[in-house]
Amino acid sequence: MKVNVCFTPNDFNYDEYIGYNAVVIDVLRATTSIVTACVNGCERVIPVKTVEEALEIKAKYPDALLAGERKGLLIPGFDLGNSPYEYTEEQVVGKTIIMTTTNGTLALSKAAVAHRVYILAFANAASVTKLLLNTQEDIVILCAGSEGQFSLEDALCAGLLADRLSSKAILSDTAAAAQAMYRDFAADLLKKVAKSSHAQYLISIGFANDVALCLEQDTLAVTPVFTNGVVTA
Ligand code: MLT
Repeated sequence: MKVNVCFTPNDFNYDEYIGYNAVVIDVLRATTSIVTACVNGCERVIPVKTVEEALEIKAKYPDALLAGERKGLLIPGFDLGNSPYEYTEEQVVGKTIIMTTTNGTLALSKAAVAHRVYILAFANAASVTKLLLNTQEDIVILCAGSEGQFSLEDALCAGLLADRLSSKAILSDTAAAAQAMYRDFAADLLKKVAKSSHAQYLISIGFANDVALCLEQDTLAVTPVFTNGVVTA
């Protein structure tokens, strides 16, 4: 199996990855929230790029929850923000969630050309690793980054996956770099990530607990898959 990493959505050109499946990461916080929603029994998540698209889909599914963020905060009139703490079983069980976030849902829409797209966060890294070690598919790991820029936390999560697959995989140079970075930072992950720009921003608007939660590894046993515009557990 081949493992490649794109550190930003702009690095992802699907023509270079024909036949690969994709793994999308937005640790802070979109993929952590999606993974949490899936483990807590939501029926599906429909990720969309814009608030307008979200409202159009809501008109078709009036019982759906509107979720997501702009500038890290709840979008006016929406039911849920983008904190994984909000995606409790009580809130999401049996629900369709229409979600729009600044970077995460954008990265998902870019990855949608791949046959299968898996959703990865630190929380479900063990589940995704197990599946990929079994299936041995070629994968490209797509980091959502932040407004087109590199994000430390996404690169480290990509590095964790690359590290865990490395004994059975051929790592590209970017995957090997992510693995090395992860190994270097692993002992002090929260402290290192807390200094990153998006973590600093989230802390400044009151979401320090989210940053800590999103860095917890292997806590949720689920591998959400994004196909035909919909994420299911
Ligand atoms: C995003 O998609 O840009 C993030 O998930 C932003 C956030 O932390 O809410």
